[in-house]
Amino acid sequence: MSEQATLGTAVVTGASAGLGKIYADRLARRGHDLLLVARRADLLEEVAAALRARYGVKVQTLAADLAAPADLERVTHAVAADPSIALLVNNAGVSTLAPVAQTTGAQLQNMLDVNINALTHLSHAALTAFKAKGQGTLVNIGSVLGVHTLPISSIYSGTKAFVAAFTRGLQEEVAGTGVKVQLVLPAATATDLWELSGVPVSALAEGTVMQADDCVDAALAGLDLGEAITMPSVNDAALLARFTGASLELFGASQSGKPAARYLAAA
Ligand SMILES: NC(=O)c1ccc[n+]([C@@H]2O[C@H](COP(=O)([O-])OP(=O)(O)OC[C@H]3O[C@@H](n4cnc5c(N)ncnc54)[C@H](OP(=O)(O)O)[C@@H]3O)[C@@H](O)[C@H]2O)c1
Repeated sequence: MSEQATLGTAVVTGASAGLGKIYADRLARRGHDLLLVARRADLLEEVAAALRARYGVKVQTLAADLAAPADLERVTHAVAADPSIALLVNNAGVSTLAPVAQTTGAQLQNMLDVNINALTHLSHAALTAFKAKGQGTLVNIGSVLGVHTLPISSIYSGTKAFVAAFTRGLQEEVAGTGVKVQLVLPAATATDLWELSGVPVSALAEGTVMQADDCVDAALAGLDLGEAITMPSVNDAALLARFTGASLELFGASQSGKPAARYLAAA
């Protein structure tokens, strides 16, 4: 069996630009065949042609709007039906950064549809297949804005908090199987997302923005290290351990079955 056949096909959503385009490059470089998903068919084809030429891997493209139910169904079916799929990177995401009252219904629906609905259905399709095979890797791209909310990020942060909670649950589900699930939480990274969100990347504080290739390379290094949660820009790994530890401790403390003493005193 060739190395390529062993690695299998990697699906990358949002592969026409930004982090997804770099994931596609790095996974092809590793020897994966690819299935690339995004709306802009012309850009997807450009990415695919370059990767076929550079790495000699098979690259299929699937132009689809993940916010459109029929398109999502097509992509979900493609993921569920192809036994060669070994890796899914749920990367496609959208952001409008504005106070809720200044966000249109269409903008908020788009964030719910792409960041939550599509990611959940595609995770479901991939994990069902991976669990049946006892192998496979799911990578879900969340955000540091899923662990901290700004006054302009309530909806985006809410969607990314969903990604984090959902993906942490999946990790519990696959424990002890051959299936891996990684949660990636990038901080500000130089991609089109910012311009599209309404906040130009030039408005961010100097020194706080990572290059997109550095972000993806760090995320893949985290995957290789077997990390459950990868925060590409966080140097102090112990901080993340304390954060998840505190969350578990708080959950444990909530299992008392009684009102806390401070509420009894106030009653
Ligand atoms: N950049 C950052 O600072 C940052 C920080 C934290 C987390 N993230 C997360 O990282 C992921 C990638 O973001 P990015 O920064 O690379 O953004 P980006 O440069 O704007 O790329 C987003 C990708 O998603 C695709 N996409 C958007 N809406 C879609 C839809 N309805 N259907 C199908 N594909 C769609 C876009 O392709 P088409 O337009 O061709 O459809 C594009 O390929 C997102 O989940 C984002 O939330 C980014």
